[in-house]
Amino acid sequence: MRQELDTLGEVIGKAVTGRGLSQIELAQSIQLSVEDLRKKINSNSLLEGQLAGLEKVLLLKQGTLLAIQNRSDLTTSLEVPNGLECINTPFTDFDVNAYLLKREGWPESILFDSGYGMELAKWEGLNPEPSRLYLTHTDRDHVGGINGIQKYYPHLKVFSQDAEPYSSGDYFSDGEVFSHGEIEIEARKVPGHTPAATVYVIWGLEVPVAIVGDVIYRQSIGGVRGDYEEALYEMRRQILTLPEETLLAPGHGPYTTVREEKRTNPFFPECSPSISI
Ligand SMILES: [Fe+2]
Repeated sequence: MRQELDTLGEVIGKAVTGRGLSQIELAQSIQLSVEDLRKKINSNSLLEGQLAGLEKVLLLKQGTLLAIQNRSDLTTSLEVPNGLECINTPFTDFDVNAYLLKREGWPESILFDSGYGMELAKWEGLNPEPSRLYLTHTDRDHVGGINGIQKYYPHLKVFSQDAEPYSSGDYFSDGEVFSHGEIEIEARKVPGHTPAATVYVIWGLEVPVAIVGDVIYRQSIGGVRGDYEEALYEMRRQILTLPEETLLAPGHGPYTTVREEKRTNPFFPECSPSISI
C-alpha cells in the first residue's frame, strides 16, 4: 500500500499555481535561479531561511515547509472508528483510497468512491453487501471502478451532488443528510478541486469522520482548479470548523485529523489547534 504524502515540490507547486506566481518570481524571491531552486526542491535541500522565504511569498504557514522537507512533525497513530476501512488500490503512479463503512447490526454496508478499477478483487465478498456508493467527486480515479464493483453488487446505487453528477447515479443537493440507523452522513459541498467536490461528514461513530476526497490531504490540499482563495475559504468553513478530533479520510495518502491539519497544514497559516497534543 502506498499511502504517500505530497512531496515538497507538489506542495510548493500547488501554492505557486494558486497564487499565480511564475517560477522566475518564486526563485527570485529567495535569490536563486529557477534551475537551482528546482534542484534544491527535488533534492529536499533548501535551507531553513530559504523555506521561510518561500512560505512568506506563498502565504504559507511558518515552519511547515521545513517539516515537509524533513518529513517530521507527523503523528504516527490515529484512532480509526470501528467499521471504517480504507480500500487502497493503484491508479497510475500513485494510489487512490476508497472507504467502506459497516456497523454492527446493519444489513448493508456503504462505500465512498470506487478507485479506478484496479485490483477489483479487493471489492469481492464484502459482508454485509454494500447498497450505496457516495461519490466525493467524479475524477476518473474515483469513479473508474464503479462498473466493476457493480458486477459484484448489481443493486449498488451511486449518489453524487447534482452540481457534479455521475452519469448513472442519483443526485442530491448540498447539505443533504442521509440517515443510516444511528449514523448520519452530511454532504458538504467544498468547490475548488472540482465544482461540487463533496465532503461527507459521518456523525455517530466513536469520533466524527469526514470523507474528504481530494479536497484536503495530510499536510497538503488537492490541486485547485477553480478559484484558489474561495477553495481555501470553503475548506476552512466546511472542514476546519469540525470538531478537532474529527478523522479526515482523504482520497490519497494517510488519515489525518482536523487538529493535525490546523497544526501542520501549510495552506492555513491563520489556524492553530485549541489543544496541543
Ligand atoms: Fe480528484
